[in-house]
Amino acid sequence: MMKCFLAPPWHCNRLQRRRIDRHLKMKIVPVIRTLTAGACAVLWVTQLVAADLPREHLSLDAGWKFHLGDDWPGALHLDKAGASTGPASGQSFSDAAWRTVDLPHDWAIELPFDKTADVNHGFKALGPGFLTNSIGWYRRTFDLSKKDEGKRIWLTFDGVMHDATVWVNGWLVRRHEGGYYPFREDISDAVKFGSGNVITVRVDASRFEGWFYEGAGIYRHAWLDKTATVAVAPDGIFVYSQFKNNIPSGRAQIKVEVSVLNVLTNAVMAEVNCKIISPWGKSLASFKQSEAVQGGSQQTAKLKSEVYSPLLWSPESPQLYKLVTSVSVGGEIVDRNETLFGIRTVGFDPTNGFLLNGKHYELYGTCNHQDHAGVGAAIPDALQEFRVRKLKEFGCNAIRTSHNPPTPELLDACDRLGMLIMDESRLLGGDSENLRKWDDQIRRDRNHPCVAIWSVANEEFAVQDSPQGANAARAMQNYVKRLDHTRPVTYAAPEGDTFNGINGVIEVRGWNYHPGPDTDTYHAKHPNQPNVGTEQASTTGTRGIYEKDPERGYVVAYDEPPHQWAQRAETWWSWFAVRPWLSGGFVWTGFDYRGEPTPYYWPCINSHFGILDTCGFPKDNFYYYQSWWTTNPVLHLLPHWNWPGREGQEIRVDALSNCKQVELFLNRTSLGRQTMKPNSKLTWQVKYAPGTLSAQGFDASGNIIAETKVETTGEATRIQLTPDRKTIKADGADVAVFSVAAHDSQGRVVPLAQNKINFSIEGTGKIIGVGNGDPSCHEPDTFTPNVPMHSFALNEWRWRLAKVPRSSNQTPEYANDFNDSAWDTLKAENGVNNMTIKTDNTTAIYRAHLTLSPEDLNGTGAQICFSGCDDEGWYFVNGRFIGESHDWQAQPVFDIGKFLHAGDNVIAVGVNNGYGQGGLNPNVSVQIIGHASVPPWSRSLFNGLAQVIVRSTPDAGEFKLTAAADGLEPATTAVQTEPCIPRPRVP
Ligand code: GAL
Repeated sequence: MMKCFLAPPWHCNRLQRRRIDRHLKMKIVPVIRTLTAGACAVLWVTQLVAADLPREHLSLDAGWKFHLGDDWPGALHLDKAGASTGPASGQSFSDAAWRTVDLPHDWAIELPFDKTADVNHGFKALGPGFLTNSIGWYRRTFDLSKKDEGKRIWLTFDGVMHDATVWVNGWLVRRHEGGYYPFREDISDAVKFGSGNVITVRVDASRFEGWFYEGAGIYRHAWLDKTATVAVAPDGIFVYSQFKNNIPSGRAQIKVEVSVLNVLTNAVMAEVNCKIISPWGKSLASFKQSEAVQGGSQQTAKLKSEVYSPLLWSPESPQLYKLVTSVSVGGEIVDRNETLFGIRTVGFDPTNGFLLNGKHYELYGTCNHQDHAGVGAAIPDALQEFRVRKLKEFGCNAIRTSHNPPTPELLDACDRLGMLIMDESRLLGGDSENLRKWDDQIRRDRNHPCVAIWSVANEEFAVQDSPQGANAARAMQNYVKRLDHTRPVTYAAPEGDTFNGINGVIEVRGWNYHPGPDTDTYHAKHPNQPNVGTEQASTTGTRGIYEKDPERGYVVAYDEPPHQWAQRAETWWSWFAVRPWLSGGFVWTGFDYRGEPTPYYWPCINSHFGILDTCGFPKDNFYYYQSWWTTNPVLHLLPHWNWPGREGQEIRVDALSNCKQVELFLNRTSLGRQTMKPNSKLTWQVKYAPGTLSAQGFDASGNIIAETKVETTGEATRIQLTPDRKTIKADGADVAVFSVAAHDSQGRVVPLAQNKINFSIEGTGKIIGVGNGDPSCHEPDTFTPNVPMHSFALNEWRWRLAKVPRSSNQTPEYANDFNDSAWDTLKAENGVNNMTIKTDNTTAIYRAHLTLSPEDLNGTGAQICFSGCDDEGWYFVNGRFIGESHDWQAQPVFDIGKFLHAGDNVIAVGVNNGYGQGGLNPNVSVQIIGHASVPPWSRSLFNGLAQVIVRSTPDAGEFKLTAAADGLEPATTAVQTEPCIPRPRVP
């Protein structure tokens, strides 16, 4: 406030200086900070600390408090260390009125749609023009025991959208820009052992990175790690396998690099012990190496071993080995880690395309963003797995993480289930900041066998043809080779026969679109450069829609020729399928995503490119790809057969199939047999009559190998609820994904049903999101609790200069029965600070009364909000100490629920004015926090279907989800939640 700006800085903050001096005197065990895996700076640490458990890797997901709004801009002031205010301050702030959320959390999904908001971010009321909705605050408290003293404490966020400012106990410990990269901080110096700690994260989502929905908030996991002072460095293990000529046969060489971080001042001799465990749990090899690690530095031990006749990792057989690494110093184990890895080789060959384990392997890939119906960008781990399984159903064997580094749990799911990954960076750049992020990405992801190739960037139009673009791509490619020489590098180039710039330096030429003669011309000119279809198709289709409807924002699902740059599925795939040197490609996209509602605008809010909709329900093109990307017989007919009023009119019928011939029937009358060309589909024009449209598929010998039918259904009569799994883990994180369908009396899905369905749940589950795949639906995906608040203004104060104990000690003036009627009065005057104390080093006491009824106290808590106390204050309610403040800029908020009673309550504040004028700002309010109420969950069906995502609570048992709608028989389905060993977590 005013006087500090007038006073010399060293003067106005002398109180804080005194505190810091005191702190330094007490703190004889000093500090180290390691900012990234690579950089560290050392002061002095005196002793090696080996914990009982050498390393604890603890989830920090549960129990955050969340507030939306830019309510504390002052908290970002950085005039003094450790003195942040408002929610960024240590414990002296009440977040009792904030909502409790668990991570991952995306607040963008909770916001309404707004026509004036950004189209590419799905018209969510966020970003430019929506400042209040674009700043979010998170707080979480945690305890560290005295026993942890001396350990290193690391805080990791896997991804925060978009920019994050992180405080620990009022200390600003990290600023991080960018929503897709993980960041980690050694917070050992800022935490308190033997008492409570508070982490505050301010998230700024007011500007965008991508041109697609990105979410907002701490939308990936957060972790707290405890390590010894000598330990494996963050992401400090690299394990890979090698074979002669990169072709697996016989024994695999297993190479291991372990970076040991020593934060002591003295050198240590660290012994690194490794063990390889087979996929079936057998210990196969043990090997070790000793490495001298200087004080305050990091040293990498390089070890090797062999595995005879290994089981190779592939999407069809995702065999995972385990590396167990321990580090010992002086015979004592100080760290232990487990790393899953796969034994396999990857490569790209100019003639034979992509090689997996030495053989041509066609990439049946899809590009995907990272949002799902109901939850936005905050995808639970089990939903990652659900999505990977959905992609595998139509033969997809590779995902391009367009256009950003993925969440690690997606890679875990791909390792386990068998799905290759093109791991893409967010931006092209050879600058130190971009390379530092690239470094983090590569170190974090390089042990995953699923990762087959790195992509330096996507469609960098402004620079891709320039020497500067080439320089940046080369720098990123060279960087990969330093950290991971086992994988190739590509760039997703939206270009034809162009060799300028990036294409001329990149190892594997990436093709965004341009299936056609350009590929052949380019290949002829550059026969030594391998190729891959980084992005193809951009075919549009809305699930279950067969007539164009621009008004509602729907496109047909017939694989029609789409907009300018895109192709039919059939067009691009026919071109790639017969050119193995192109390696296959990645369809834009596997799943629909929010934003980019091409070719429409409002009211359409999500894309139509997906083979699956935003819920993962298949569109018809699913069967096109399934036909040509899998080997089992496939036969699918479109459209649905409910066309009342269209009797006698011609309707286009397509058969998607890999059978050699297909015969179509309407109400058992043959409409002819047609022969399928490879990678194509068949079409008939059929005069509509209600009934049954059916088909038979034949092999080359004329045998029927597949049959299917589409029937005209009756009206919807009942709801069907089907979970993806009948049993999930009772860990508060696992999810069951329910399909909701409207059935007619014969159990057939009614393809036109749009009923509004209401959901309720009992037992050990909680609904976290609903969706229906409708690209123009503006119904909410989540229903967040409302917390009612009742506010009492404390505008009338009495005050007097008085002696104030500089602590929580009492004086009679704080007590309820003290008679203050002779004191001066002080009234709130529209927020103006009254500056009641006129002289330096002068103290005063302020008192106010608040009368509450028993009903007023019927809420869940109460807090008192002060709007300033110049310079220091000690605060009391009914004679009991509630907190203190030591910064004139602070606007402390204290939790006082337990201090209030019905009748007369007395609020008293002792104030010390250190310099100039000061006193208590009398604009004070007490807020009574009511009971949260969650509105009932509901969602309309879109073309017969909707989806509900239910998360388990940590209790074993059962939950029952009920779906009900007017005029339909309701459905109730139970899912068991089984006991499990939960992920270790911070309590
Ligand atoms: C591509 C781009 C994608 C997406 C797609 C839509 O050019 O790489 O991010 O925008 O177009 O067709």
